Formats: sequence, structure tokens, C-alpha cells
Amino acid sequence: MAYLQTDVTKVTTHVLQRMKMSGEKIAMLTAYDYSMAKLLDATKIDVVLVGDSAANVMEGFDTTLPITLDEMIVYASSVKRAIKRALVVVDMPFGTYQGNSKQALASAIRIMKETGADAVKLEGGEEVLESICRILTAGIPVMGHLGLTPQSINKFGTYAVRATQEDEAARLIHDAHVLEDAGCFSVVLEKIPAKLAAQVTSELKIPTIGIGAGSSTDGQVLVLQDMLGITQQFTPRYLRVYGSFGADISNAIRQYIMDVKSQDFPNEKEQY
Ligand code: KIV
Repeated sequence: MAYLQTDVTKVTTHVLQRMKMSGEKIAMLTAYDYSMAKLLDATKIDVVLVGDSAANVMEGFDTTLPITLDEMIVYASSVKRAIKRALVVVDMPFGTYQGNSKQALASAIRIMKETGADAVKLEGGEEVLESICRILTAGIPVMGHLGLTPQSINKFGTYAVRATQEDEAARLIHDAHVLEDAGCFSVVLEKIPAKLAAQVTSELKIPTIGIGAGSSTDGQVLVLQDMLGITQQFTPRYLRVYGSFGADISNAIRQYIMDVKSQDFPNEKEQY
């Protein structure tokens, strides 16, 4: 049917499943705005996550808790307008799905309707099962998120590695199976021991995406601004920085200021 045709092969949840089965690693990065998403779209990135890390990166909050559904919808629709190929997943913000599955479904429907995204992501295991099941009944693909779940920072009290003790590791493995059995298409494993992530990855049929979870997960995710070297003073051990764009941007701005002050800019060719 013509209305389903595009000139690019779109990444779907089924494509991610096939990637796990064939052993091809999944590359995922965050984006929150059109300009960055346009740059991502020109690459072969598989998944773009409109993460609630926007609360930190875009809004300057210490935690992800304050970001609202309305704000996530603005970020996500900006990203979605730029992305043609990658699967676009949107984080459900804190307070929009926990403890009330009807509210969870309403929030997920707003995200899908108002942004055109492909899937939602939410944090937690068995405790959010009812919300996950209800969202899935509407045909909305759900990505899970276990391990360090930043929306629970006030319970954890620290951003340290999770599930280093046997009981928490056993609980995480249990929750991973709960998410898979419920019908989640993938699960993010954040900041847990590599050995535990490897075990979860081999036990699950759905793909795992790791951040600070070692090399055995089916894919990796990083926050774009962190890996580009734009976010400074954030140096967790798992982060590999692929550029020094923070310094480049500052240098460009300093040069611009000098050029304006010295009246070098604009020159004859840069005016009408
Ligand atoms: O919000 C976010 O960016 C995330 C990733 C770190 C997985 O949840």
C-alpha cells in the first residue's frame, strides 16, 4: 500500500529482534531536539531514545524527576520530525505510569498520538507490570529499563552500580523475565555488573541494551551529549567520549565574540 512506503528501510521492533538473533549489535543514542536528531538520521543509528535524561541535559535538573509529559512530547515530536530510519523510543516521565495503569495507558497514548514515536520506555519490573500490560493492549510497543533506574534515585540514594548483591541480582533476573513474558520488545540494563548483564542477555529472547552493563548486551546506549564531550563534569567509568564538541563550541563562541568586538565580522562579503 502506497501510504506505507518510504524511501528508507525503517528499523522496527522486529528488526531489533532479528539483530539479536543474528548477533548484530544494536546502536542506540539519545536525542532531544531536531538539529541533533537530523545529524543522527544521516547515520545508520538503529534506535533513537528521547530519554527523560532531557531533564538533566536540556533543563539542568539534578534528577530526571521534574520533567513533565508535555515537555517530553515537545522533545519527542521535534526528534521524530527529523528521524526517518531509526526506531524512536520515548521515555515515560516520572509520575505518568507508576501505580495507575489507566493513567499509564493515557500517557502512552498521548506520546504516540502527539509525537508519532514508535515505542515508549518505562522504568521498573514487576511493580509496573499492570501498567505495561495495559499499554501493550493498545498495541504500543514497550521497552523496559532495569538496574539503575534514575526515577528511583530517592529510593536508591546513590547513582552507584546496582545489583552487586545476590538478592538484588536475583530480583533483576526475575524482573527481566517478567518484562519479556509481559511482551516488552527490549530491555535497557543500566549500570549493573557485566556478568549479570551477560546472564540476563543469554536468558532472554528479547534484545537487551546496556549502559554501563558490559559488552555482552545485544546493544549499547549512551546519552548523545555525554559521548560527544558536550556534557562536562560527567565522567562515569562506562562512558567513552568520541569528541570534544563542548570545547569546540566554546572556542567557536569565543572567536565570534573576538570577531564582533574587533569589527572583523561581518566583512564586505558578509553583507548586502
Ligand atoms: O533517559 C535516558 O537517557 C535513559 C538512558 C540513559 C538509557 O534512560
